[in-house]
Amino acid sequence: MIIMLSVLRLSVALCLASTAMVAEAAVCDIYGYGKTPCVAAHSTTRALYDAYNGPLYQVKRAYDSATTDIKPLGPGRTANATIQDIFCAYTTCNITIIYDQSGHSNHLTQAPPGKTQGPNPGGYDNLASATAAPIIINGTKAYGLYIAPKTGYRQDKTSGIATYDQPEGIYEVIDGTHYGGCCFDYGNVEGNNMDNGEGHMETIYFGGTGGFNVGSGAGSGPWIMSDMENGIFSGQNYGMNANDPTINYRFTTAIVKGEPNHWAIRGANAQSGSLTTFYDGVRPSSNYNPMRKEGAIVLGVGGDNTDGGEGTFYEGAMTSGYPSDNIEAYVQANIVNMNYKTSS
Ligand SMILES: *[C@@H]1O[C@H](CO)[C@@H](O)[C@H](O)[C@H]1NC(C)=O
Ligand SMILES: *[C@@H]1O[C@H](CO)[C@@H](O)[C@H](O)[C@H]1NC(C)=O
Ligand SMILES: *[C@@H]1O[C@H](CO)[C@@H](O)[C@H](O)[C@H]1NC(C)=O
Repeated sequence: MIIMLSVLRLSVALCLASTAMVAEAAVCDIYGYGKTPCVAAHSTTRALYDAYNGPLYQVKRAYDSATTDIKPLGPGRTANATIQDIFCAYTTCNITIIYDQSGHSNHLTQAPPGKTQGPNPGGYDNLASATAAPIIINGTKAYGLYIAPKTGYRQDKTSGIATYDQPEGIYEVIDGTHYGGCCFDYGNVEGNNMDNGEGHMETIYFGGTGGFNVGSGAGSGPWIMSDMENGIFSGQNYGMNANDPTINYRFTTAIVKGEPNHWAIRGANAQSGSLTTFYDGVRPSSNYNPMRKEGAIVLGVGGDNTDGGEGTFYEGAMTSGYPSDNIEAYVQANIVNMNYKTSS
């Protein structure tokens, strides 16, 4: 509450009545108040709207190949992990669908083959184990999405997502201690799973360096960067940008947002404090201005299905429009308020 109040005091753009509403709101309600609504909202740990009471994700069990949906404990609440624990008792379960809570049906399912072929028949990527990333959120058990290498989710047929040079914002909460190389991405990618050239992607990349045109920042990593295709940027230029710090909080908030010839990287400890801007400036080169975003969505692999990365995802969303820093301050405060913790 103290953190929330200090964020409220910072607000000059919102009148008193709406500030009170924002203080009570979940992340996607907050983006909505900012006139940059979520057009994709994904989480295995909680509802991202106050009113959302639909499915968060679907699991499939090995014993009989049956599936079930994991729902929140109530409207706007955290996941009811008991549904999964009962359904998956004495067998193993994978996560098969991460539902889009935004109403745009931008659900994420097993990523299909692209330039890189996945390990399964037909070239699909692996599915994540449903039990590999248990945590506590708001005092209750929930499960994150544990992405091992060769694991990925995707939706090529989307609605509402930015295309070409349209503005968008992306945020995610991840495990800052679980990372690898290319490419643990979340965001806007090619619709045909191939590398269609510079500017055809706009995603949050989280990880270390290594590989084709993967940048770096200060220290030894990991870093929040943006994979914009054929370039993973930690700042304006290819390679090392010292303003992008190593960030490895157990729970890390990561943000990338972009509009015509302008984009930014921001990050924070998801358990306390506020966001810091690591880059805010022009696009890397004319190859990225204008952008050629295609509006498909990926989680865990690159736009062409490059599948060597790894990480753990808890929640995230993509917006229509470029969110203000002020609105993102409320988003961060709401995340902190969820009190993410490790489970013993
Ligand atoms: C879960 O995914 C793994 C690959 O990561 C696979 O070997 C296993 O068969 C899958 N299990 C189910 C129940 O789909
Ligand atoms: C957090 O826990 C409190 C106390 O149990 C509960 O009233 C509240 O609805 C919970 N919030 C969410 C988002 O689940
Ligand atoms: C959580 O799921 C369990 C198992 O399905 C169910 O018995 C319980 O009522 C659910 N809790 C809530 C608050 O819906």
